[in-house]
Amino acid sequence: MADLLFQRCINPACGGTADWADTAFRCPRCGGLLDVAYDWNRLPVPSSLKHFESKWASRSNPLDFSGVWRFRELLPFAPDDKIVTIGEGQTLCQRADAVAAYCGMSPGRLFLQYEGMNPSGSFKDNGMSAAFTHARMTGATRAACASTGNTSASLAAYCAATQLMRGIIFIGSGKISYGKLSQALEHGALTVQIQGDFDDALRRVQEVSRQLGIYLVNSVNPFRLEGQKTIMFRVLEALRWEVPDWVVVPGGNLGNVSAFAKAFFELRELGLIARLPRLAVINAEGAHTAYQLHERLGLRWNGGAFDAAGVSGYYGELDATNRKPDTLASAIEINRPVNLPKALRALDCCNGVVRAVPDAQILDAKAKVGAGGLGCEPASGASVAGLRHLVAEGVIERDASVVCILTGHVLKDSDETVAYHSADPATFEAKLGKRGVKSVSFANRAVQVPNDLGAIVAAIQSQC
Ligand code: F0G
Repeated sequence: MADLLFQRCINPACGGTADWADTAFRCPRCGGLLDVAYDWNRLPVPSSLKHFESKWASRSNPLDFSGVWRFRELLPFAPDDKIVTIGEGQTLCQRADAVAAYCGMSPGRLFLQYEGMNPSGSFKDNGMSAAFTHARMTGATRAACASTGNTSASLAAYCAATQLMRGIIFIGSGKISYGKLSQALEHGALTVQIQGDFDDALRRVQEVSRQLGIYLVNSVNPFRLEGQKTIMFRVLEALRWEVPDWVVVPGGNLGNVSAFAKAFFELRELGLIARLPRLAVINAEGAHTAYQLHERLGLRWNGGAFDAAGVSGYYGELDATNRKPDTLASAIEINRPVNLPKALRALDCCNGVVRAVPDAQILDAKAKVGAGGLGCEPASGASVAGLRHLVAEGVIERDASVVCILTGHVLKDSDETVAYHSADPATFEAKLGKRGVKSVSFANRAVQVPNDLGAIVAAIQSQC
């Protein structure tokens, strides 16, 4: 198995490798990030993506039902009897003409890939089923993550549903929405609240996992990203195997953008697609490291020889001026994206761009998505707000085919949604106003009426 499947340093000049079973998730030679690597020449790969259409007929097999594992020939790291699935990846990619109009696009050109339909309500389940599978292959009995909420909800759900592992989650204090925290608690994960933010929690969980030999499921784990590749396989499937012109995705720890580029790159290597889409990563303005580095400071992958000193200098400056990430899109409230080098490679490979959008625009875009029937959380709204920017700039043409990734469900953060639509200025102020949102455009205010039949009837008739 060792030469069919291994881990490989992403820096081609380093060339370091690690065994598939190594759980340090750092290049043993240079300390950099690793990819899961396969010897595709010796693995059975389908000759056409249409091959996957036949899996629906055998969906009574849980592996063929799973939206991750029915593509297992494209992430062939696990024997079937070790695969962990809880039915993840039954998502949909929906044409969204009203959202397209809001973004300045032509009808029929924008699709929303709705990852909120996953068992724990976010895209994380794609990666968690893959990481859990790898953890099981290595004999792990405990798994940990730092999280802005969704990774922890997903880890907790997989632990509870499979009873294969004890889950330990690290969260920053006051930095997680109640929807997500409630999932971790309900599913019985050991929840460790650290004084600090996500970046602090991620640093600590890596230290603690190393010291206690606990399996780490954050996206620095390349097996997680193998699962997240399948989001793109499902997008292609929904588009009848046509590659879209653009994929727009919110950027936090930059795992998704890295996984998406790996998916497309491998598909092209395997002769299964002819061209790559372009990628757009959307930061929140209050947590815009990728935007600053890529667009303002011109940081580029440069074949692996990217300016690491420049990145350290940027982080040093953040520390020196005590600048903490600050956005209402708490899922992407991250200043030190752990997958930054992989994301630079992804942007290079897929001719990508990065943009940063303010919270008020994120929330308006989220409301527009919700008005179309697929509710998403604020971080997901960033992709639509970013698309709107890119169309206005002329970077994305109005007739381009575009897929925006909606990463998490609307119920993940109902406090923010209620505050957005609230008729009560104090509720608005407490949640949104004090974080810098002055006004919003699409509030659907509740109508206040006395407990009186005539007044209720009159209120309804005046509205519709
Ligand atoms: N959208 C949502 C809903 C998320 O939860 C996250 C990340 C992202 C986007 C960003 O994705 O890291 O691949 O760029 N949430 C992590 C967590 C950090 O802990 O749940 P990325």
